[in-house]
Amino acid sequence: MKINNSKKPYQLAASLICGNPLKLREDVDSLIKGGIDSIHFDVMDGVFVPRYGLYPEFLKAVRSITDLPIEVHMMSEEPEKYVRDFATAGATIISPHVTACKHLHHTLKVIRENGVMAGVVLNYADPLNVLDYIMDDVDMIMLMAINPGILGHKLIPGTIQKIEDLRKKIDGSGRDIILAIDGGVNPESAPGMVKAGANYLVCGTSAIFKPNEPLDVKIKEFRNLIDSKISDVV
Ligand code: DX5
Ligand code: ZN
Repeated sequence: MKINNSKKPYQLAASLICGNPLKLREDVDSLIKGGIDSIHFDVMDGVFVPRYGLYPEFLKAVRSITDLPIEVHMMSEEPEKYVRDFATAGATIISPHVTACKHLHHTLKVIRENGVMAGVVLNYADPLNVLDYIMDDVDMIMLMAINPGILGHKLIPGTIQKIEDLRKKIDGSGRDIILAIDGGVNPESAPGMVKAGANYLVCGTSAIFKPNEPLDVKIKEFRNLIDSKISDVV
């Protein structure tokens, strides 16, 4: 399975860790009903980030109830050790942080050898030139617009400039690479992110996961809002 990079101006992914653990199935059904494009799956090891996240058995359970792409955000040290577990569990794409990989090119190779798409994640302060020699080896580049591991933080303002710079770099490479944003995606920030060149937005507590508000309704509202604000550029 692949994540399609060209069917729409942008795609919305739901950050599953923001869901209600007691209502996982209902949340996934509601995400599907709302037309979500992908599931963002946060893996955290308590070391790379000061928190624990989701794990392969959890992914397998989600895979058993949906065919949606499952995009794994690996916030862990030594991510290559866990690639096989997440690929076997049903991941569609696995994206480690560049700073967690001692041998980035090799880790990306291992990911593709396991039959899944490969992505990379950059924290705000990570420079774009780390990508110079791996543009052929990635299907997605994800920029963190917040510091990772925390939910509900506000976008770091320089992110918009960084998206513009990365858009130029991707277009200049001639490669078909998804430009994704994680963190700080909310009704105020999202249209500007798309205008700057992002085409995949991770929606968490700031965008669609709100207590007592149906996810399917929130997704549709969020998409309509972005569409109305970007209509002049698409
Ligand atoms: C942050 C996580 C995100 C998170 C972002 O480390 O990776 O997936 O859910 O969305 P917000 O901040 O809106 O909850
Ligand atoms: Zn994430």
